[in-house]
Amino acid sequence: MNIMMKSEPFTLPPLPYDEGALAPAISSKTMSFHYGKHHKAYVDKLNELVLGTDYAGMKLEDVVKRSFHRPSEHEIFNNAAQAWNHTFFWTCLSPRGGKPTGALMQAIERDLGGYDAFKKEFAKQGVAQFGSGWVWLVEDKGKLAIEKTPDAVTPMAEGKKCLLAIDVWEHAYYLDYQNRRPDFLKAVIEKLLNWDFAAQNFQRSG
Ligand SMILES: [Fe+2]
Repeated sequence: MNIMMKSEPFTLPPLPYDEGALAPAISSKTMSFHYGKHHKAYVDKLNELVLGTDYAGMKLEDVVKRSFHRPSEHEIFNNAAQAWNHTFFWTCLSPRGGKPTGALMQAIERDLGGYDAFKKEFAKQGVAQFGSGWVWLVEDKGKLAIEKTPDAVTPMAEGKKCLLAIDVWEHAYYLDYQNRRPDFLKAVIEKLLNWDFAAQNFQRSG
């Protein structure tokens, strides 16, 4: 059999920490499945789907934006967006946790009623997402907002600036929390959100 070695256009980026670094809020078992199986499957499927198409030479972000507007490319969108969303999500988490500071804290106070109100509304929207999806802190037209999206949908595809996200698909929490999505959200919001990353996103132009 003549198999040509060929590099895949999209790769699974390494986690920014060890699989066990977020325990006990997120166990190493959850991370092992979520990153090593679910995230990897999106990347693998995307590579399969883009084979021989223009998408194979594009940046992942551009694949997401272009396929979002093309209903016939729904499967490419789903896998590309999930590949992007998960890489974003891993960086939204940090074993150190923390709180917003500086200009971002001021914007949270101005647009969302303060840090405590943010935490309450972020959890509420994450719980309210019916079925699989995501909850996001975004900046849209100079204003911060909290949004929930179904399945793979990402505010990035609509040109909004994503600052933070939490995955609320069952695969994100079922091994650790079973059906208790509110407990998962509370633990992540209180202990794991990477506010340094959120601040970098906030300061980024465009
Ligand atoms: Fe996920």
